[in-house]
Amino acid sequence: MTSLIEKAELALSQKRDQLNLRWYPHYHLSPRAGWMNDPNGLVWFDGWYHAFYQHHPWSTKWGPMHWGHARSRDLLHWEHLPIALAPEGPEDKDGCFSGSAVVKDGELALIYTGHKFHGDPSSDDNLYQVQCLATSRDGREFQRQGQVIDTPAGMHHFRDPKVWREGDAWYMVVGARDEETGQVRLYRSEDLREWQDCGVLAEAQAGQGFMWECPDFFTLNGKQILMFSPQGMAASGYDRRNLFQSGYIVGGWQPGEPFRQESAFQEMDRGHDFYAPQSFLAPDGRRIVMGWMAMWESPMPEQEDGWAGMLTLPRELTLTDDNRLQMRPVKELESLRQNRTDWRVGELRNEAKRVMEECITGEVILKWDLAASDAEQFGLALEDGMRLYVDGQAQRLVLERHYPQYGLCGQRSIPLPQSATLELRIFFDSSSVEVFVNDGEACLSSRIYPQSRQLSLFAWSGSAVLQEAGAWHLE
Ligand code: FRU
Repeated sequence: MTSLIEKAELALSQKRDQLNLRWYPHYHLSPRAGWMNDPNGLVWFDGWYHAFYQHHPWSTKWGPMHWGHARSRDLLHWEHLPIALAPEGPEDKDGCFSGSAVVKDGELALIYTGHKFHGDPSSDDNLYQVQCLATSRDGREFQRQGQVIDTPAGMHHFRDPKVWREGDAWYMVVGARDEETGQVRLYRSEDLREWQDCGVLAEAQAGQGFMWECPDFFTLNGKQILMFSPQGMAASGYDRRNLFQSGYIVGGWQPGEPFRQESAFQEMDRGHDFYAPQSFLAPDGRRIVMGWMAMWESPMPEQEDGWAGMLTLPRELTLTDDNRLQMRPVKELESLRQNRTDWRVGELRNEAKRVMEECITGEVILKWDLAASDAEQFGLALEDGMRLYVDGQAQRLVLERHYPQYGLCGQRSIPLPQSATLELRIFFDSSSVEVFVNDGEACLSSRIYPQSRQLSLFAWSGSAVLQEAGAWHLE
């Protein structure tokens, strides 16, 4: 362990005991203490799932980035390991930024962005971002191998390498900013050290952003999906309401050929807090994705408790024949289910009904009969801070949070599916809610900060019919 990592480890173990745990997650990955943002280096290695993440161990705010590290057998019970990377080389002196991991010849290889200023750090003119390599045999301690790709001439923002194996070579996509245009650049290598520049794989059309962060490129259902997090796309109506988005474009690609886009940019998650998702392959072939469940510049009330940031649940990705990416919670989540309570509600008419006294870690299942429901508003409320309801007039499913004491009030919503029933799987943890709509059709993820945790069902100005309603208590 380097002395910087050792110092940070000591500080974390002391701070860990001082956390206020009221909003600390029970089955999501969060830092032991301090700050977390993007998931990094998600990989299966040596019989374990490994998750790394952007981490500032020294405070609850973003700062010189380290790579936090945890591992799990089931993607739900996480064991923290020592910090994997600290900003301590000439190539990453101001931060070890986001990146990915692959396994090569029995070694775990981390490919990440070295972030450094040459001179005054207040100007981006002095910013350089380069791609770096670090390797490990035991999956705990990493040897820095230094820079493997320099900043392209004239560029400053060039980061978040995602590496994968295709045929007989390694490929890498990197996010970049070319003046005011977001880009994804492509590289190829035989050995992870020497990289050949294969040009620009995709770039922003008008209105698609000035910087594309955290690109990922993978195959599903015979198509290639370019997933990325653009900065600088404007909000329009109900769409792209968050400061930055995460989404995808579907197309076709083969090594040596351009990426032929078949679909427009689509957002992946319609809640308040979802950013910088990264995917990886499970040993059984599933493509799993996790994102950062927070948003840049959003208030994070848990900072006063000694920590900040968490990752979403792992979600299995599939692609429909009409090029829509679907997300479903991984099946491992079912192993957390303890006892189930059924709520015999049936019909609600101009009323609210308390169904649970305290919902901390719960998976709520609701099946609304849309065809038989005419209420103007019907849904689920967690005390009076969070509501998930159908707005019958707007024909939308709305996720609303109302925590004025923290400056967090507002709604996210999606068009109501055209189906006769609306099936919702809703995962609550101490400070988060993730809503899966009609078995993968849509997903909304938001941070919530409840003071009390009673759940009620309601229907106003009319009636609403439930075909199924209940909750699993999760371990
Ligand atoms: C995305 C991001 C990445 C960068 C990292 C820095 O949230 O801005 O582009 O590598 O966070 O922490």
